[in-house]
Amino acid sequence: MNITCGTDIIEVERIKKAIEKLGDKFLNEVYTKNEIEYCESKNIKKYEHYAARFAAKEAIFKAISPTLNNKYDLTWLDMEIFNNEQGRPYVTLNKEKINMTVEIDISLSHIKDYAIANCIVKI
Ligand SMILES: CC(C)(COP(=O)(O)OP(=O)(O)OC[C@H]1O[C@@H](n2cnc3c(N)ncnc32)[C@H](O)[C@@H]1OP(=O)(O)O)[C@@H](O)C(=O)NCCC(=O)NCCS
Repeated sequence: MNITCGTDIIEVERIKKAIEKLGDKFLNEVYTKNEIEYCESKNIKKYEHYAARFAAKEAIFKAISPTLNNKYDLTWLDMEIFNNEQGRPYVTLNKEKINMTVEIDISLSHIKDYAIANCIVKI
């Protein structure tokens, strides 16, 4: 068993600019349909939620890359952030590509200017 952690912080403005400049090209490369639906439902605060998911995926990459990245050549869309009924975020990985058990716990926070994510991974 291997336990690793990952963290990432990002400026919300950076994600906002990428979305405004690149539009669907950026969105569809980084976010799943479900993630886009979730963020768009947040209206004026949507860029905070997009930034939080970007940070989450970076944090997960950091945590899993020692074990998984070289093996599976992961992309942004191989991980998906959902929220349970209480709003708590959780992650699913692309099981068609990653055929081993990976447990991930993630925590997100965001304010007007910054979003941050932390995760713990057990492989
Ligand atoms: C849910 C809550 C923790 C969110 O905190 P916040 O400061 O408003 O917002 P943050 O930016 O820090 O966090 C937002 C993220 O928290 C996460 N979140 C939401 N509900 C959550 C929950 N029940 N458990 C864990 N994480 C949660 C989500 O990932 C959310 O981001 P997302 O919508 O983009 O996925 C807060 O609204 C709350 O209910 N706090 C209760 C505090 C309390 O009862 N304190 C007294 C006892 S200690």
